Amino acid sequence: MTPHTASDSYAGRDSSEAPSPWAGLPIGVFDSGIGGLTVARELASHLPQESIVYLGDTERCPYGPRPLEEVERFALQISSWLVEQEVKLIVIACNSATAAGLETLQRQVPVPVVGVIEPGARAAVQATTSRRVGVIGTAATIDSGAYTRAIRALDAGITVFSAATPRFVEIVEQGMRLDRSPLEDLMAQTAALYIRPAFAEIARDYLDPLKRCAIDSLVLGCTHYPLLTPLIRSIMGPEMHIISSAEETALEVVETLDRRGQLAPPDQMPHYRFATTASDPGDFTDLGAAIFGRPLEQVQRVSLEGLG
Ligand code: DGL
Repeated sequence: MTPHTASDSYAGRDSSEAPSPWAGLPIGVFDSGIGGLTVARELASHLPQESIVYLGDTERCPYGPRPLEEVERFALQISSWLVEQEVKLIVIACNSATAAGLETLQRQVPVPVVGVIEPGARAAVQATTSRRVGVIGTAATIDSGAYTRAIRALDAGITVFSAATPRFVEIVEQGMRLDRSPLEDLMAQTAALYIRPAFAEIARDYLDPLKRCAIDSLVLGCTHYPLLTPLIRSIMGPEMHIISSAEETALEVVETLDRRGQLAPPDQMPHYRFATTASDPGDFTDLGAAIFGRPLEQVQRVSLEGLG
């Protein structure tokens, strides 16, 4: 996919074309918690004029150990809430929820729905030369086989080696609690935060078997994991292609909105709204700001009961 920005597309538009009434509406994004803010951050960087409504289902996080049917039900509830907020497109910024619910949401939700698995799979297919690709994620994502299917649908000659690495979600959360300065940009200091002997031992246990499979590309199949990139690279070596679907997903959103003539006007001031299901939004607000790279203002508490 050729990276391009929204303003490139607007530059090519005929000024007499009426803007789509959808164009000014926000993009809806959700995750089980704060991990999906790695995707929201890429969206804000590639589409600086787009408004975003983000919901973190922190109260029911983690999704990874739950049955797929339950996660699918959660994804439907959240999508109903996002549709009520009048979003023009929904991004499932969670691999577990994408594995569990993408197809159902695409069938049932009245706006386009983009998941994170397809974009990550596409990036892996483009990166590998040995055609041996590793995928790590939560138990829900890995057990669903969604990555293997998505990669092999693009290139049936690729061998996929996958491993559930659920403790990586724990490590990300623990690491963030070790540094609670709310406005620090966590993404810029992940090496200092996560390269620690205790974390490295867990990471080696998970990753050494994949390393022995002689993969040349590793997909981070969980939206929490981009924070662990320096730790993972310290074990997998400098040559490994480490693929986060966050950026690829943002590019897919650009393409989808562009195709539908629904990109926000280039002069639109973006408005970011955040919501969480947690009874106390404090943690979501502090840790989320560190991932998103800017303060999360006026975080709303929502209840999803009765939806979906
Ligand atoms: N962010 C979720 C994902 O991408 C992982 C966290 C969870 O288990 O809820 O799968």
